[in-house]
Amino acid sequence: MKIAIAGTGYVGFVTAVCLAEHGHQVTCVDVDKQKIDSLNRYGKALIYEKDLDALMEKNKERLTYTTDYASAYKDAEIIFIGVGTPEKRDGSANLNYVYAVAMQIAETAERECVVVVKSTVPIGTNERVEKLIREHRPEGAAPLHVASNPEFLSQGTAVHDTLHASRIVMGVEDEYSKAKLTELYKDFAAPKIITNRRSAEMIKYASNDFLALKISYINEIANLCEEIGADIEDVAKGMGYDKRIGSKFLRAGIGYGGSCFPKDTKALHWLSDYHEQELKTVKAAIEVNDHQKLKLIRKAHKYYEDLEGVTVAVLGLTFKPGTDDLREAPSLTNIPMLLEEGAIVKVYDPVGMERFKEHYPTQVKYCKSAEEALDGAELCLILTDWPKIKEIPIARYAELMDKAIILDGRNCYELDEVRVGGVTYDSVGRITVH
Ligand SMILES: NC(=O)c1ccc[n+]([C@@H]2O[C@H](COP(=O)([O-])OP(=O)(O)OC[C@H]3O[C@@H](n4cnc5c(N)ncnc54)[C@H](O)[C@@H]3O)[C@@H](O)[C@H]2O)c1
Repeated sequence: MKIAIAGTGYVGFVTAVCLAEHGHQVTCVDVDKQKIDSLNRYGKALIYEKDLDALMEKNKERLTYTTDYASAYKDAEIIFIGVGTPEKRDGSANLNYVYAVAMQIAETAERECVVVVKSTVPIGTNERVEKLIREHRPEGAAPLHVASNPEFLSQGTAVHDTLHASRIVMGVEDEYSKAKLTELYKDFAAPKIITNRRSAEMIKYASNDFLALKISYINEIANLCEEIGADIEDVAKGMGYDKRIGSKFLRAGIGYGGSCFPKDTKALHWLSDYHEQELKTVKAAIEVNDHQKLKLIRKAHKYYEDLEGVTVAVLGLTFKPGTDDLREAPSLTNIPMLLEEGAIVKVYDPVGMERFKEHYPTQVKYCKSAEEALDGAELCLILTDWPKIKEIPIARYAELMDKAIILDGRNCYELDEVRVGGVTYDSVGRITVH
C-alpha cells in the first residue's frame, strides 16, 4: 500500500521502517528540514534504537523522506499522524501539531484515504480531527476517513515491539477505514482489537497510566521496605509470580521518565478532572513519581551535608537503557540540582551524551567511559541501568573513587555482589551495605 507518515520521530520513523519491512511503500514527512536532509543524505536513523539502521538499509527502496507534505499526501492510501502531543502547562495535551497536520492533509490529499491518528491523543480528538478536515476540505474533493490506531511501542525495543506487537488497536467508525486498516495489518500476527475511536483512544491512555501506577506503587513499597528492613527485590519477585499481578513493571527505582508516562498520566488526569471524574489513583502515581525522582539527591545528603566541591560521577543520562531519549529523564532533574549545590559533575552514558550536551554544553565533564567518570569521584549516582554500567565490577568503584559511595537508583547490583569492602552501596528499597 502507499503510505504517508507525518512525523519522523520515535513513533513515526519506527512505524515507517516496519511497514516498509512488510512491503509497503512509505513516505516519511517532517517539518524538520535538517532531519529530512540528514535521512536523505546519510540513510541512517537519527534515533538510537536496536535493529533500526539495519532494517532501514534493507528496505531503503521502499522508504522516502520529504518536507513536501503535499507530494506525500496527495496519492497516499493511508496517512498516519505520528507527531508529538506534548504536555501543556496545565497538564493537558497540546494538540496543535496534530491539528496542523490534519489541515495540511485536508488541503492536499487528492484520493479517498484513511487518516490514521497514531499519536497519543485525548479521548474525542479523532472527532475533532474529522471536523477540522471537513471544514478545510475543498468542495467536491474525495472523502477522507479518520481512524484511531494508537501506538504501544516501548523505546529501547521499538522495532521488536512494532513487528511483534502485543496488540493492534483499530478505532474505526466506518467500513472503509476498517477494511483499509485490516488490509494494512493482515500480515501482523498480533491480536487485533477493532472498536470505536473513543475506546481506542482510551485504551492507550488507560494502558500507559496503569503501567505508571504499577511503577509508583512498587516505588512506594520500596521506600517502606527501606524503613522496615525488607528487601524490595525479593518482595517484587514474590509478587511477580502471581499471574494476576505479573512480574513486569515491578522494578523499584527512581521513577518513570520518557516522553510518554509523565505526559500521559497528566493528560488523562486533566481530562478526568475536566469531566469531574477525577482519577485519584493516577494523581497519586504522578505525585509519587515526582517525589521519587529526587530520591538520590535526598540520599546524597545522608553522606554529605553540603555537596559544594564534591566530585560526583553520574552514570546514565537517558531515561532508560536502549534509547538516546532524554525527555523527562531523571538526569535532567538531578544534575541541575547537583550543579546548583556546587558539586563537580562528571557524566557517562553509552549513547546519551550528545543529546545531553544540547542542554549542558560545558557545565559537566563528559567522560569516555564509566571508569573515567568514577576516577577520583567522592559520590556516584547511577541513574540508568545500561548493561555497560551494570557490568562494571563493584571492586572497580572502590579502586577508582576517592570515596566509594554509590547511590544506585536502578538496583543494578545484587546485594551479595557489593559486599566487597571499601564501598558504601545505597540502593532503592534495600538495606545499605557498608
Ligand atoms: N516515543 C514513544 O515511545 C511513544 C510510544 C507510543 C506513543 N507515542 C506517541 O506518539 C506521538 C509521537 O511521539 P514521538 O516520541 O515519536 O515524538 P517525536 O517528538 O520524536 O517526533 C515528532 C515529530 O513530528 C514532527 N512534526 C511536527 N509537526 C509536523 C508536521 N506538521 N508535519 C510533519 N511532521 C511534524 C516533529 O518535527 C518531530 O520530528 C506522541 O503523541 C507520543 O505520545 C510515543
